[in-house]
Amino acid sequence: MKRETQLELARVLQAYVRDGSTAQAPDVFHNPVAAYSDTARALAERERLFRGRPLFMGMSCRLPKPGDYLTEEIAGVPLLLVRGQDGKLRAFANICRHRGAPVASGCGHARVFACPYHGWTYGLDGRLTGIPEAASFPGVDKASHGLAPLPAGEGHGMIVIRLATGAPLEIDVDAHLSGLSEEFDAYRFAGYSYFASEWMAPAINWKFGIDTFLEAYHLPALHRNTVAPLIRGNLGAFDAYGEHGRMTFLRFSSTAWDGKPDAEWEVLPHIVAVYRLMPNTVLVFQSDHLETWRMIPGETPDRSRIEFAFYTPAPATTDKARAYWKKNYDLAIKTVLDEDFALGERMQRGFMSGLQDEVIYGRNEPALIHFHQRLQAALGPA
Ligand code: FES
Ligand SMILES: [Fe+2]
Repeated sequence: MKRETQLELARVLQAYVRDGSTAQAPDVFHNPVAAYSDTARALAERERLFRGRPLFMGMSCRLPKPGDYLTEEIAGVPLLLVRGQDGKLRAFANICRHRGAPVASGCGHARVFACPYHGWTYGLDGRLTGIPEAASFPGVDKASHGLAPLPAGEGHGMIVIRLATGAPLEIDVDAHLSGLSEEFDAYRFAGYSYFASEWMAPAINWKFGIDTFLEAYHLPALHRNTVAPLIRGNLGAFDAYGEHGRMTFLRFSSTAWDGKPDAEWEVLPHIVAVYRLMPNTVLVFQSDHLETWRMIPGETPDRSRIEFAFYTPAPATTDKARAYWKKNYDLAIKTVLDEDFALGERMQRGFMSGLQDEVIYGRNEPALIHFHQRLQAALGPA
């Protein structure tokens, strides 16, 4: 975040403290509970959001060297991300052109991908390089039987892909970020290091996973003993960037600014910047590091898979650094799992009960309203 933006936000947040207010949407928003529980809605999301739009996959430092790869399955698509010998990040359908086995599993480092079924081999650029007993496959041209490429892009330290074959294969990350590029560059994300990550599988709709990061209204009640003593409840600034949004929260420690000219304010240690990237990603910049959350829809509307990842401005090379980051990592995950998602699982049962027709987002929850309105617009008529 650029210094001018930091100061602007700090002033806005201080004014909210002074006036006892927060960013407000023009009106409350009523969302049918079907958004979180309906199977037809989940299918539409899969097609129009997850298969139709660029998806944030992680920071570039997940795959720093040629040959580094990872596999995932999103919206029914097995996919392979790999950095080529030329340094370029590519995405492929993880589907062998012989009979469809996944050519790679998990994550790691490879020079070549050998299909576990019959041993067809593929280069890091997806090209089919070897067919055992090739004489049995007359007319099967290696040049046209590489792994199916998926559109991918990399920029500002981020990897973005799209789960659809066909041109163009290059994703314009700047265009996708709708004006957030400069802000991300100011954090120097391109130089960040991967610390750790993990997957969880809460019994919640993927959108609830996002909702939980978008307002500070719930801090005093739900996080009474954890986050509430650190971050001001029901107070935040909201800014929309196209389909994405930024919510900024204020730590009580911002009293450090009191009585000082703003030129002397150190801003980042006293705010929490939460970026929501359409459709399924939340980036949380906390003082000195980045946490990312990717929400992946599960098989049914009441299930999701969520990846938490933690990135640091420099590699953690000493025990002291590792212990410091690990403490932050554990704290972030514990609050969300034990408090937000634990309650979310119980809320989801209410959503599925048939006895609830809507949820309401208040004027003090503008980031939630923006998110759900943008989803509705992207999904189009039912
Ligand atoms: S399915 Fe991959 S080699 Fe047969
Ligand atoms: Fe929370």
